Amino acid sequence: MVGLPARGKTYIAQRVCRYLNWLGIFTKVFNVGNYRRKNAGAEQPHDFFDPGNPQGAVARQAAAVEALEDMFRWYNNDNGVVGIYDATNSNRERRSLIMEHCSRNNVQVLFIESICEDESLILSNIMQVKLKSPDYAHADPESAVEDFKARISHYQRAYETITEPSLTFIKLVNVGSQVIINRIQGYLQSRVVYFLMNLHIQPRSIFFSRHGESMFNLQGKIGGDAHLSPRGLEYKSALPGLIDKHIGDEVITVWTSTLSRTISTSELLPYPKLQWKALDELDAGVCDGMTYEEIEEKFPEDFANRDEDKFNYRYRGGESYRDVVHRLEPVIMELERQHNILIIGHQAILRCIYAYFLNHSHAELPYIQIPLHTVFKLTPRAYGCDVEQYKLDIEAVDTYRPKPKFLRSSNSSSKSSVLTEASQ
Ligand code: SIN
Repeated sequence: MVGLPARGKTYIAQRVCRYLNWLGIFTKVFNVGNYRRKNAGAEQPHDFFDPGNPQGAVARQAAAVEALEDMFRWYNNDNGVVGIYDATNSNRERRSLIMEHCSRNNVQVLFIESICEDESLILSNIMQVKLKSPDYAHADPESAVEDFKARISHYQRAYETITEPSLTFIKLVNVGSQVIINRIQGYLQSRVVYFLMNLHIQPRSIFFSRHGESMFNLQGKIGGDAHLSPRGLEYKSALPGLIDKHIGDEVITVWTSTLSRTISTSELLPYPKLQWKALDELDAGVCDGMTYEEIEEKFPEDFANRDEDKFNYRYRGGESYRDVVHRLEPVIMELERQHNILIIGHQAILRCIYAYFLNHSHAELPYIQIPLHTVFKLTPRAYGCDVEQYKLDIEAVDTYRPKPKFLRSSNSSSKSSVLTEASQ
């Protein structure tokens, strides 16, 4: 990261980190401010950051180097793939130190510079983020703002925007209203650039709900293209009122899959609609249309393997959760760009989308509870995401299968392995 304080560097770093981890690319943020707080103590006054203050300069340089070294230890010992070095890195000297360390360790570098000249955005960042930082835990808001502005002006005096032509970089000017890229190469860098070009910070909410209860839900069957049950039809009729109550006058767009249960659930909603093939339910392959009991009987090994690693298990002739995450990537990208979307979707699909916004791990993802006949409202914040749930009082079956408490012992692959609770 490159940029003056309060330019949203940590926000961008966290967002890229969440996106790449969701895709399965092991990513970690190394925030130099945290190292500085640990070593020199939080609540340093602004003159600690004055380039003319030798004591401050030594402490800040030590924190920068310690974070960098930790990052390389993580690459080498923990199989890290993308390390995000979150610091101001606001002069050529610091950037060439980074380049030196990285080329020695054979790590490619993409600099992400955030430039913001909009005073109101900077002030709102200070108010929303910086005042909550441990740096100002005991300061009154007014003097904290003054101190932080003084800190920025120390950095400003020594700031050199990236002009080094040999560096690979993306500059985001005023939250992406202008984007400048240089020497971007390869799949990963292009993905990150594309992601950054879609980020915005306008407030918005994303709503989603599973389709109304289907006939297959009633029969305990997975997959298929069944119609809604009588209770599912009741949910379909009640949904417009619930959405209207919680969205108010906002214009929204409804996204569904191409399967009849989501299209039917959305039919009475008075908003523009779009069908996405990418939103279709996880493909259960040869198990499509079966109950869990039938799968356990016909494919006991598969059933056990799925319980052992649900995220990676791929149904014969079908998909895994990992496959679904990849097919949902364009949906996520579009969700980043859009305002006010309501998705009428399926259990596995909505788990993947929920995990993206709430930063759940791949191990947790397949066990997220997304009950029927409930609307979720997700509101992304600077750090994190608020979740509200609105449940309609229309009964539905519970399709949730908890993670079995006891799995077969790992050295056994026999069909008689213990699989208690798997079918509960
Ligand atoms: C900080 O100490 O908060 C930021 C460190 C830096 O200048 O990169």
